[in-house]
Amino acid sequence: MSRKIVCLPGDGIGPEVLEGARTVLEAADKRFGLGLSFENHDFGGIAIDKHGDPFPEGTRAACEGADAVLLGAVGGPQWEGGEVRPEQGLLALRKTLGTFANLRPITLFEGLEHLSPLKEDRAAGIDLLIVRELTGGIYFGKRKEGETHATDECAYSAEEVERVARIAFKAAQGRSGRLTSVDKANVLASSRLWRRVVVRMQAEEFPDVTLDHMLVDAMAMKLIEAPAWFDVILTENMFGDILSDEASVLAGSIGLAPSASLGDGVGIYEPIHGSAPDIAGQGKANPLGMILSAAMMLRHSLDAADAADGIEAAVQAHLASGARTADLGGTAGTGETAEAVAERLGS
Ligand code: NAD
Ligand code: IPM
Ligand code: MN
Repeated sequence: MSRKIVCLPGDGIGPEVLEGARTVLEAADKRFGLGLSFENHDFGGIAIDKHGDPFPEGTRAACEGADAVLLGAVGGPQWEGGEVRPEQGLLALRKTLGTFANLRPITLFEGLEHLSPLKEDRAAGIDLLIVRELTGGIYFGKRKEGETHATDECAYSAEEVERVARIAFKAAQGRSGRLTSVDKANVLASSRLWRRVVVRMQAEEFPDVTLDHMLVDAMAMKLIEAPAWFDVILTENMFGDILSDEASVLAGSIGLAPSASLGDGVGIYEPIHGSAPDIAGQGKANPLGMILSAAMMLRHSLDAADAADGIEAAVQAHLASGARTADLGGTAGTGETAEAVAERLGS
């Protein structure tokens, strides 16, 4: 059986970290007999340059026919201010595949406590999962852009809230049974709807989950004060974008944070970081967020939990050995990091 993985390297460090994930997936394939096949397609800024479109038709068809999509990152200064932006391709991809739930786990790995910007006793025990709504809200509302006025509409339907909340409630059931829903219900109508739906679902479908609510501004503070208190965090599209970057740094570096974007069809797996133009082309990007995204792909889309566990254990052992890329204060390169993880997997 062959499982087709469509790879979208994208821009900046995207191709570098994706290459690293491929090295590790090939080692996992050898060890676990996964039958993986890989296909690269243009996406993001590079696709604008080659085809005038960040998400060309050929790429779209390939993604729709894939077992899973692995994505590096898109964007960069050379495409800023243009008619069409690489980031529009990313939003179109998420919408096309209907990946409404974005899972962003943030864990403080053993031995990295001192790399957190927090005091070690505050950072200890960080192990949380952000469930970010991904295909609605202000990212996809009506947009008007004039010289002197601009509008971005933030709209949610009850159904959009329900389907992502269900994933978060279920995740909480499989973890500590605690869910924190984050909104801005003291100001926004869309947040009040969000809160009503979540409250009703807890009463009707998930009475075993302990639910609390937090306003997003207080959440930004509490995440720094007591990050280990949180387990599953459910929030809308833009709040989830912001809070996940914040949380990632508390656990050492954004370069370590993976994600899975899930819906009813093909899943997308990408690190939460961007194309990092400041370090692109230097071979020093941390590939571990991308590699851990590949592990999430094996677990969620390819029914290969053993191989996913194997990759995660190899990453943990690699970090415990003291090897570090520049973002973690070391000198190891992207390729050598991926090869070291692949080697551990093979042994
Ligand atoms: P960024 O995440 O690219 O970089 C922020 C900082 O983190 C930089 O200092 C960068 O060097 C560092 N960093 C990020 N990933 C790293 C890694 N793997 N290893 C080591 N260091 C890493 O965010 P930005 O600079 O605000 O955005 C750059 C471009 O990326 C923009 O065009 C933005 O729109 C785009 N972007 C794309 C995605 C995506 O494709 N999913 C996500 C975020 C941002
Ligand atoms: C992310 C990114 C994207 C987002 C951008 C590049 C559109 O920041 O995946 O976190 O905001 O969703
Ligand atoms: Mn982001």
